[in-house]
Amino acid sequence: MDKFSYSVSFFLVLHVLCAGAFDVSPIPFRKGFTNLFGESNIVRAADDRSVQLHLNQFTGTFDFIYNLYAGSGFKSSDLYNHGFFSAKIKLPSDYTAGIVVAFYTTNGDIFRKNHDELDFEFLGNIRGKAWRFQTNMYGNGSTDRGREERYYLWFDPSKEFHRYSILWTTNKIIFYIDNVPIREMIRSEAMGADFPSKPMGLYATIWDGSDWATSGGKYRANYKYAPFVAEFTDLVLHGCTSDPLEEVIDTGCDEKDSQLATADYANITRKQRLAMKRFRSKYVYYSYCYDTVRYPVPPPECEVDPAEMRRYKGNGRLKFDKFHRRTYRRRGETFKAKRYDQNEDDED
Ligand SMILES: *[C@@H]1O[C@H](CO)[C@@H](O)[C@H](O)[C@H]1NC(C)=O
Ligand SMILES: *[C@@H]1O[C@H](CO)[C@@H](O)[C@H](O)[C@H]1NC(C)=O
Repeated sequence: MDKFSYSVSFFLVLHVLCAGAFDVSPIPFRKGFTNLFGESNIVRAADDRSVQLHLNQFTGTFDFIYNLYAGSGFKSSDLYNHGFFSAKIKLPSDYTAGIVVAFYTTNGDIFRKNHDELDFEFLGNIRGKAWRFQTNMYGNGSTDRGREERYYLWFDPSKEFHRYSILWTTNKIIFYIDNVPIREMIRSEAMGADFPSKPMGLYATIWDGSDWATSGGKYRANYKYAPFVAEFTDLVLHGCTSDPLEEVIDTGCDEKDSQLATADYANITRKQRLAMKRFRSKYVYYSYCYDTVRYPVPPPECEVDPAEMRRYKGNGRLKFDKFHRRTYRRRGETFKAKRYDQNEDDED
């Protein structure tokens, strides 16, 4: 099998295995969301189903010339005590080095010292290279115990909309891309309060992360390509709205919790599990579980596989990233997913 048919069959396998959309009903922006920052850079569609977040640069003079990087963001109007948070997203196209698009749940506005958070973060891109992103989890302010995983995407996320989803139930977290589960975390006793437990809202932002995002800051944002536009549509908020400052948090959420636990997106089918395994064996390039420099003893939820361990260096990154050799051809277009050199990509 040559490389071309290999990669095509991978796409087919993922998509056939995970065919069928989730049973979800989108919420109009006005009903579920409010602006977070950069009002003038938030462009809402007339039908209220879609919203664009822009990132621009403004140059002005005071006694000196200054540049302002103006991103934007929105958030859900409510907080949810567990939920399924989802949107179809199209990322900025062309040269997007340094540009971070984040889609995440948090309660950091309220719990500054002990917040909970679940993240998708897209790390900008250099035209022609494979897009990269990371997921993370924090609970009760465990910011000194990051649980990052970083991956390549198996498609160009700036070409079409794809659905990105975060499921958070009482006992598990699943990150999805379209219908492919890419990461699952099951709550365990040992995790303690590191598993998110307080109501969170959904956030989406675009901002300039030049200092670290793309190859550890080697490739910075270039405003020749501005405005950078991330588009969101068919937003989904399923869960029990909850005010974390109320004395009693949980009343009324039990029924919603059981709805969440039995929804189609809470049940990874055998085929989806196979697709997750394939995704993870090919597209993860950093895992905190194999970062022995940071965690001489891996966090309790890590199932360290000795065979897998050999693939990683001590810093949790793949020793030899075979991704750089693969050539993708889609719609008659060829791009080489080049290797991101380890040295130029030290992000920590
Ligand atoms: C969460 O963090 C707070 C503040 O650091 C701490 O007092 C509390 O004990 C923690 N909760 C749990 C369940 O560990
Ligand atoms: C999960 O999905 C499988 C396959 O579709 C099905 O057989 C099973 O009954 C489902 N389980 C739950 C709890 O919904």
